[in-house]
Amino acid sequence: MVMNEKLDRLVDLAIKSKEMAYVPYSKFRVGAAVLSADGRIFGGCNIENASYGATNCAERTAVFKSVSEGARQIEAIAIASDHPTFAYPCGICRQVMAEFGQDIIIILVNKNREIIQTNIEDLLPHSFTKKDLPEENNEF
Ligand code: THU
Repeated sequence: MVMNEKLDRLVDLAIKSKEMAYVPYSKFRVGAAVLSADGRIFGGCNIENASYGATNCAERTAVFKSVSEGARQIEAIAIASDHPTFAYPCGICRQVMAEFGQDIIIILVNKNREIIQTNIEDLLPHSFTKKDLPEENNEF
């Protein structure tokens, strides 16, 4: 569980990042905030495209921002939407999270700022990760 000030900071940034969502097609805004092992946090939003399949979810935007700044080890991600209950991350985002956060905590935030916390093991059990590849592919 993420608690206290760390939780507040992450939730605040996820909600703030939601404002940047580019969603002319779905109108469904999502914001995310990643907490990396070195303590840095990175926000991201969903970014849609007229070619719908080119859309990037908020979670991946935030994870890619983190990784591209050298923060490859991710401890937690907060995800905020205007969903009345809770919007869970899509399958592609779960796979991307598993790559950079083997024990990643996933914090869901609904439109009333209510929070639930879960983890990647519960959302993506038996995931395919680098452990499943031959060792010679794992030099990096
Ligand atoms: N979306 C996310 O940003 N995260 C998710 O986990 C689910 C879906 C976005 C993608 C698209 O812009 C909109 O929500 C509707 O699918």
